[in-house]
Amino acid sequence: MAEPENQPLYADEFSAADQPYLAGLRCGDEAWSMAATEWISSSEVLDSIENFNTKVWIYRNSEEYGSIVGFSSLATTGWQKWPPPDGKRSRLLYIPQLGLDHRYRGFPPDPDWRYSNQIMEHLIGEAQKFALQIRVDKSPSKHVDLLTLKVHRHNVAAQKLYSRYSFELLDGFEDKEHLMMFHKLDLEG
Ligand SMILES: CC(C)(COP(=O)(O)OP(=O)(O)OC[C@H]1O[C@@H](n2cnc3c(N)ncnc32)[C@H](O)[C@@H]1OP(=O)(O)O)[C@@H](O)C(=O)NCCC(=O)NCCS
Repeated sequence: MAEPENQPLYADEFSAADQPYLAGLRCGDEAWSMAATEWISSSEVLDSIENFNTKVWIYRNSEEYGSIVGFSSLATTGWQKWPPPDGKRSRLLYIPQLGLDHRYRGFPPDPDWRYSNQIMEHLIGEAQKFALQIRVDKSPSKHVDLLTLKVHRHNVAAQKLYSRYSFELLDGFEDKEHLMMFHKLDLEG
């Protein structure tokens, strides 16, 4: 019999009006988890939306407003040399921040319904849609097919999650605290 917690999450685009419902969200106590909580609960998310056109989604596990379990986000970079340091000038998609309330880490146990997996699948699907729309709207020099992110080098849970979704380390681009990872979007399927 199906477990009751094995349910699809509800994904909604975030707006400033949602912030009061995020007051109870806590991604955890590690520095990177507190940074995620701070980002979605403060003006940082609003600045990112305003300044970089970032798209942000919140995920609920019921229709109740207060049932937010996590969030994700997607933006485009400015022009970068890709692959660095000498590649052609390109724009890249990137994930400014994502997080799950600490109570739902590893939940539910069934990987087919795991919240972290549902969030990643939704986010990669949105990145694919976005990249495909750019192909329709813009000249080839503006096309994007890479999704990138920075992750704290001690944030093993996030690195494992990203590896599960075919993110690879970009060697040589780590800084003191962070690693850089990229995922090639499947835009042909
Ligand atoms: C990143 C995050 C969304 C992952 O969600 P999650 O529910 O913890 O992920 P999963 O249960 O799928 O676990 C991922 C893997 O990390 C492992 N893991 C979990 N916590 C761990 C820890 N503290 N140390 C080492 N491994 C850990 C899990 O066992 C699992 O391993 P597996 O792939 O071998 O099965 C969640 O941990 C989170 O919100 N963290 C705080 C915010 C954050 O780090 N955001 C990312 C910013 S780049």
